[in-house]
Parts: sequence; C-alpha cells; structure tokens
Amino acid sequence: MKVTVVGAGNVGATCADVLAYREIANEVVLVDIKEGFAEGKALDIWQKAPINLYDTRTTGVTNDYSRTAGSDVVVITSGLPRKPGMSRDDLISTNAGIVKSVTENVVKYSPDAIIIVVSNPLDVMTYQAHLASKLPRNKVIGMAGILDTARYRAFLAEALNVSPKDIQAVLMGGHGDTMVPLPRYTTVGGIPVTELIEEDKLNAIIERTKTGGGELVKLMGTSAWYAPGAAAAQMVEAIVRDQRRVFPVCVKLEGEYGMDGVYLGVPVILGKNGIEKVIELQLNDEEKQLLETSRGHVKEVMDALDNINASKA
Ligand code: NAI
Ligand code: 2OP
Repeated sequence: MKVTVVGAGNVGATCADVLAYREIANEVVLVDIKEGFAEGKALDIWQKAPINLYDTRTTGVTNDYSRTAGSDVVVITSGLPRKPGMSRDDLISTNAGIVKSVTENVVKYSPDAIIIVVSNPLDVMTYQAHLASKLPRNKVIGMAGILDTARYRAFLAEALNVSPKDIQAVLMGGHGDTMVPLPRYTTVGGIPVTELIEEDKLNAIIERTKTGGGELVKLMGTSAWYAPGAAAAQMVEAIVRDQRRVFPVCVKLEGEYGMDGVYLGVPVILGKNGIEKVIELQLNDEEKQLLETSRGHVKEVMDALDNINASKA
C-alpha cells in the first residue's frame, strides 16, 4: 500500500512517522512546497527505521506529484495552522487555495485514492477537496472527530483516574466550538459515564473539549500535532487494512439526520472504500438542536467558500 501525506509540517510529518513505525503502509511519500523540507523529514523518519525496527520506505519530494502516482490513500495537511487569537475559520481563504491546487494534483496522479483532509477549517476544506476532486462522498473525508473524541476521552480518563483505553465515546458536528459531545453515548468499560461522574464535572469536561484545540494553541503558539497526526494515521489504517472501524468522520450528508449537502462529523464505518456506511443515531431533541446549530455554522463557512470560489472563477 502506498500513502501520500501532503504537508510535511507538524501534523503531516507526525502522521508519516506513525504510518511508518506502525508499518501501516509499505511506502509513504511526504510532499511539501518548501524546498527540501519533505525530503529532510522523510530522510529522518527513514533513518529511525533501524532503531525502531520498521521497513516502511519513506521518501520526500518538493511539489513533484508524479512521485505520488498510484497512492491508495492521500492525507492533506498542507496549509496554515492557527495562531493565538485566530479561529479555524480565519484560515479559510489561504487554505482553500492550497487545498484546491493540492487536490487537483493528487487526483491527476492517483485517481483512485481515498483523500483524508486535515487542513482547517476542516469541514469546509473537506468540501473544497470534494469540489476540486469531483470524487464521490465515500472517498473524500475529513479528520476531526477522532481527535475531538480523543481529547474528551483523555479528559474523562484523567477525571475518573482510569485508563483512556476503556473510555468509548462519540462526538458529532463540525470541528469547532459547536461540536456536539454525546454523554448518552459515552461509556467507561461498558458503564454509562453518567453513573461515574457528577453532572457539573462532566459538563466542564465537555466545555474543555469544545475549546481543546484553542487550549493547545494558547500554550504552544501554534496548533497541536501529535494527536492530530496519530488520528489521521488511524483513519489510514482503517482504510488500508479494511478494518471497518466505527469512528466519527467528517462526511457529506445526503439526507442522514435530515441534512443534505453539508459536511459534518458523524459516526461512520470506515473500510477499504472509505466511508462504508454512515451510522444514524436516534438523537433526542436537545442533541438534534445542538447538531442543527453546528450545521448552521458549517454551512455559513461553506457559503463563504462558495463566494470565494465564485469570485476567482
Ligand atoms: P505546519 O505549518 O506545521 O505545516 C503545514 C505545511 O504545509 C508546511 O510545511 C507548509 O510548507 C506546507 N504547505 C503549504 N502550502 C503547501 C502546498 N501548496 N503544497 C504542499 N505543502 C504546502 O502546520 P500544521 O500544524 O502541520 O497544520 C496543518 C494544517 O492542519 C493546518 O491547517 C491546521 O489548522 C490543521 N489542523 C487540523 C486539525 C484537525 O483536527 N483537522 C488538527 C491540527 C491541525
Ligand atoms: C485542533 O483542534 C487546531 O484543529 C486544530 O487542534
């Protein structure tokens, strides 16, 4: 299996590293626009192979997509990250241009690839990759839900003093402050979380999760990369190994949850065809309302992207 990661910055290089050391692909190609940057990161990952004992061949290339030809999966991380004081949506016009040109190059050389978008604003950049690739919805998907859910699970594990491995949860909606955590679908070793934690503590964890990306931007001056890179690699693994894992993934809704044409995080089955199935939960009225608010926000930014694209046409 051949996997290309576009953008050799913090998230892209971390994703390539996980793909290599966990031998998720035989070949990983890292691409960046900055001369020599991807080559250097890939060489460093390859030189770690004799220490960490893996044989995934990792190479880097400066903007030469012919070297990505025949990729099975492509992860797009190219674009600006958030700086303190910025929202993900502030990145829209710069990253839209980058994601468009990268996607066109990817599809030219790997027409059968499944594309995983990571660049922000995530839901709308996934839409942009869909517009530029013209691929069906099962093949153009976005990574955010695994990361947001992991943050929620990590905070819960800390509060309950239990292993994060035993916390199962799902978050829905857009990748932003309107994301929708679902305590009704959160369990700890099969036990409903509400039996183990007081309501006010759970609410505080939910609020911290919603702003979890911003918390890291404040601490580091740029956005996170270890968990985002690992989350994207976990999606690649589910696809190349046809694992049929159940994850929250950003996908175009086509009638599910009563919504059409909008890109939102929902639980799906992820396998060799990308999205194998969108899972429709029976949401209660409050959850439906939260999801509708999130939809409204993402749709506004999708409309802003449509205007940007129209002004450039
Ligand atoms: P970074 O600045 O470390 O890396 C971005 C890389 O993209 C740079 O090396 C840059 O040279 C490259 N690049 C820019 N234009 C390019 C082009 N046209 N072709 C190829 N490469 C190009 O940023 P970082 O931290 O890796 O973040 C990348 C993106 O991922 C950002 O938009 C960030 O907001 C987003 N992100 C999304 C998350 C999610 O949950 N979906 C989580 C974390 C970050
Ligand atoms: C994150 O959630 C900024 O989207 C990025 O870390």
